[in-house]
This record gives sequence, structure tokens and C-alpha cells, in this order.
Amino acid sequence: MAQLWGGRFTKETDALVYAFNASLSFDRRLFFADVEGSKAHVKMLTKQGILTEEEGAQILQGLDGIKRDVENGSLAIEGGYEDIHSFVEAVLTERIGEAGKKLHTGRSRNDQVATDMRLYIRGEIDETAALLEELLCEILAIMEAHKSTYMPGFTHLQKAQPVTVAHHFGAYFSMFKRDRERLKSVRERMNVCPLGSGALAGTTYPLDREYTAELLGFDGACTNSIDGVSDRDYVLEYLNALAITMMHLSRLSEEIIIWNTNEYRFIELDDTYATGSSIMPQKKNPDIAELIRGKTGRVFGAAQSLLVVMKGLPLAYNKDMQEDKELTFDAIDTTKGCIRLMTGMLSSLTFRAPRMEQSAGQGFANATDAADYLVGKGVPFRDAHGVIGKLVLTCMEKGLSLDELPLEDYRAVCPAFDEDIYEAISLKACVERRKTKGAPGAVDEEIAAAGAYLGK
Ligand code: ARG
Repeated sequence: MAQLWGGRFTKETDALVYAFNASLSFDRRLFFADVEGSKAHVKMLTKQGILTEEEGAQILQGLDGIKRDVENGSLAIEGGYEDIHSFVEAVLTERIGEAGKKLHTGRSRNDQVATDMRLYIRGEIDETAALLEELLCEILAIMEAHKSTYMPGFTHLQKAQPVTVAHHFGAYFSMFKRDRERLKSVRERMNVCPLGSGALAGTTYPLDREYTAELLGFDGACTNSIDGVSDRDYVLEYLNALAITMMHLSRLSEEIIIWNTNEYRFIELDDTYATGSSIMPQKKNPDIAELIRGKTGRVFGAAQSLLVVMKGLPLAYNKDMQEDKELTFDAIDTTKGCIRLMTGMLSSLTFRAPRMEQSAGQGFANATDAADYLVGKGVPFRDAHGVIGKLVLTCMEKGLSLDELPLEDYRAVCPAFDEDIYEAISLKACVERRKTKGAPGAVDEEIAAAGAYLGK
């Protein structure tokens, strides 16, 4: 057992208690953040004359050595240490002696872990945002390639009105763009440094908290030491941002699963992104999309779990807060993995354009346009709606689409119809005449804006 306390204890901690309390097995992830935070703290202590130049230099050298050895694999983060903070301090003291014991001057593990976690989450936010950017680039490529690939747009999963693949994916572009922007705003709000908050009430040493904050790339030191050690809002905000991203990935996955069914056949998954069945030789399953949809629950769970952990905690630090780590780490790994896989799946799948177009031509997706045609001939929209409803019924009885229905049948219901009805309800016309901002006929502007957002 290697712990940072013990003076006031007369008995050894029970082994079961020690194991229950210890966090090294998972907070080892904070190693680099812990070393970075410690180095900044030591530089500040030295600048303030709390440590001598020699002590400061010795500690910094020691910390760099530990970092180097962990990086090159000669030092393993393991052993009976209580947590990552104990590990670093113990190895340091073992290596450099007395000076190592001064590292923790003017610091508590409470502000230390709060700082480590912030540094770690900040880095992960940047990585998540970069992965989202790659996904957005892939979506933009699909939009550019499929401006004239017609497909049915749906409401209630019933064919509604024709759109294009470009326009449909434009919706996902908007969703993942918001996700990326959401991460940026979480980052802006979280970028304050808790180091120097001490256990909860600051310290008696003349620390320069702004200097430490600056060294660590924060915008400044946090304004209240009690909040500094007990705030985990930024973890919650990040987890909720990840949960929303997973919700978006899950919706896209669900569409991919539907499009991949034998009934739809809108897409062909690449062999590298599909799996087979052990018994049914014909199968090509969309397991990756299903797993992304399935893993979404874990990330929602993490966001919910941490809210529950935090809701009853009195100020300031409580050990419950150690529970912020495993679930957050899992949510981060899961979401980053899913974004990567979605990007790869999208870049490798093929859209079956003829099949999508055929489907868009069936199911009366152009019925609204037929009604709009009558409006153009002076028929009030409500009456036009009734006329087309009747014609849809006729089509269903005859097994025809609106495009195939003879002009006599149109005229029998309403004399305002002319030969130009067929052009007016073609897929191309249905899409291109919807030119209002954000509509399928205005997708060029949408693509240009998306490109500008990505700096392309
Ligand atoms: N492992 C702890 C955590 O993750 C570090 C802080 C410990 N502080 C304390 N007072 N026991 O929260």
C-alpha cells in the first residue's frame, strides 16, 4: 500500500477498503495531465519564492524523467498506489529524494484532480471536435456527389415528398455542425483553472494562481475555491454533448439499417463495413450501424449517472466525485469510436441511385406538387388537395402512379388539368421548384455554406 497520508492512523487500512477506495486502475489516464499540472505548480511555487530555484529545477527534471520513462515504456503505471497523484509523487520522491516531498506544497489532491480532469477533458473535447470535422467533410462529399440523386423524403416513415441525397445529408451536416459548435462552447466555459483552490479554502502561501492558469493554457483562475474543487459541470456538459452526438449517429445508423434492407435496397454497404451470418449464407448485415445505435445507450447512461452522483453532494469535495471518471472515459471512447466508424462507413458505402429514384417515383411523393399545379391554375389549395386525393385513389385502384395516369382520368375529376401536368410532377421539377432557403432546390447554396464552414 502506498498512500499520501497515514500520520494520524494507528492501524493499516483493511485491504478490501484500500482496493475499494483506490483509483489508479482507471485514473492512470490522467497521468500526462497530472505531470503537466504539477510542472506548472512547481514553476509558480519557484517564481513566488516558495521553492528555491534549485528545488524547482530538481522537481521539474524529476517530473520530466518520469514522463519520459512512462512514454518509452520503462516505467509502468502500476503497483499499490492509491491513485495517479500518489504514483507520481511517490516515484518522484524515490528518484530525487527530499525535494520531491515539496511538490505538494500549497496544493491538495482536491484541486489537483479537478485540474487534471479539466486538462484531460479539454484535450478530449478538441479530439472529438476534430473527429466531427472529418465526419462533416465526408458528409459534404456525399452532398456534392449526389445533387441529382433523387430519393423519397419521409414523414412517419411514409413517403412524403421527393428530395435528393444531397438535401437529406444536408440535414445531418446541420446536426453534426451543431455538435461541433456545442463542444466549442463547452470548452470556452470550462477553460478556467481550479489549481490553488487547495482542499476547498485556498492556501496560506502567496500563490500566483493566474500565472499557473496561464502556464496551463487556461483563460484564468476560477473565482471561488469551493466551486473550484467541487464543480463537475463541464464533465456533465461534455457528456451531454456526447449524448446528443450519439443520438444523431444513432438516427443516421437507423436510416442506414432501413436503407440496407432487402425491401429498400437504397444503399450497398461495403464488404469491409458489413458482416455475415454463421448459418445464413446470403446475409450481409449492417452490424456496425446496429452497434452504433446500441452503444448510444451507454453514453446516455453516463450523462445520467453523473447527474445522479452529483445531485446530493454537499459542498465541497466528496469522494463520490471519483465516480466521474470511469463512466466519462467509457463515454469518450465509445463516442470517438462511433464517429470514426460512421465516417468510414459513409465513405465506403454506395447509393443505389436508380433504385432510390424508382422509389421516389412510387408512393405518390409528388402528390403535393400535383395539388400545387392546380393552385397555379387558380384552384384554391384546399379544393386541389381534395382533387388529388381522389386521383390518388383512382391510381391505387388501377395500379398506376400519378405520372402514369392518363390525362382523361385527370380531366374527369377536374377540367383544369393539361398535358403540362406530367412535367410539373416529375421528380426533377418537384425538387428544383422548391427553391426557398433550406429546401432541396436550393441545395447549391447549402453546399456552398457547408464548404465555407469547413474552410473549403
Ligand atoms: N481519486 C480522487 C478523485 O478522483 C482524487 C482526489 C482525492 N481527494 C481526497 N480528498 N481523497 O476524486
